[in-house]
Amino acid sequence: MATPTDGISVDQPNDILNELKQFDDTKAGVKGLVDSGIEKIPAFFIQPQELLPKSSDIAPPTLQVPIIDLGAIHKDAGCYKQIVEELKQASDSWGFFQLVNHSVPKDLLDEVIQGVKEFHEGDKDVKEKLYSRDRVKKVRFASNLRLLSAANWRDTLTCVFDGSLDPSDIPPVCRDAIMKYREAILQVAETLYELLSAALGLPSDHLRGMNCAKTQLMVAHYYPPCPEPELTLGTSMHTDPSFVTFLLQDDLGGLQILHDGHWVNVAPIPGALVVNIGDLLQLVSNDKFKSIKHRVLASARGPRISVATFLNPSFDEKKLFGPIKELLSDTNPPLYKEFLVDDYIKAYISKGLTASALSPFKL
Ligand code: OGA
Ligand code: NI
Repeated sequence: MATPTDGISVDQPNDILNELKQFDDTKAGVKGLVDSGIEKIPAFFIQPQELLPKSSDIAPPTLQVPIIDLGAIHKDAGCYKQIVEELKQASDSWGFFQLVNHSVPKDLLDEVIQGVKEFHEGDKDVKEKLYSRDRVKKVRFASNLRLLSAANWRDTLTCVFDGSLDPSDIPPVCRDAIMKYREAILQVAETLYELLSAALGLPSDHLRGMNCAKTQLMVAHYYPPCPEPELTLGTSMHTDPSFVTFLLQDDLGGLQILHDGHWVNVAPIPGALVVNIGDLLQLVSNDKFKSIKHRVLASARGPRISVATFLNPSFDEKKLFGPIKELLSDTNPPLYKEFLVDDYIKAYISKGLTASALSPFKL
């Protein structure tokens, strides 16, 4: 499946595009630029004024993404109900939450961050050989999943777990950590899908039965320090086309979500996993849950490491997707038509970056 930021855009003057192409041809990413000692960022990184952060757009710091504590999930029925209720609120009004006491050991999370950092800071030849945007390659490295101007200030290692990934293709410095982390995320996802099913008022195995964690697309980002952070972005504003996204971030911060018209910082919490509702879950929930716009600021401090894992259906799933029938009624009619996963992916790839993946399916 597409990741939130891939494709190509060409509505820029030729010299800027040539510069972008030259940068891409170095196969060294933004890290390579920073290592070369630049003091000004190349023009193709400069974002249009209206997309740059403005202090007036920032929410008061008291506004915080909900924290969901899974620690007491097996204690008694009352605790379980309480967690379901909190998740329902969070998925509806925020679309984002931070999971704590989720059972993935903090040591493993630290190992993943460290392994990813070592990959990005490691052997240039290893990165150059992996440099690609070819979807056939299940393990690949590139700066900007979409080569477009304005580009984002970050590099990414992508692993697509769709059943055909050969673990020996993952760079050895982060291979074990990534493989263990993937298993751990799948376990948390089982619990989360059960809780989200309950939050939608469905039998607890409903979401799991939809096979929406079959493909895991993992993007391990490296955001180098930026000499002119006020001119660019680490990640442009987008929603995730996934069903659900798990995000592991280090302690630098910079991720922001758009909540009630203001940008709210997703403050790093040691050991937490940030979870967000993707477009596909918004769609099958008939808009009960929300897929929320988010972005990452560029910063003079860095590098920042984050790993997003997009849980998706199998890309060759032949079943039709659409709003879950059990949720529909005369007073809650379907907001979307039914479609195949393949149509969804095609529509996503051809859409513009800022358009929602949902709009082609709206009724
Ligand atoms: C993404 C994303 C946020 C981050 O990869 O879709 O939103 O903090 N990443 O890197
Ligand atoms: Ni995202």
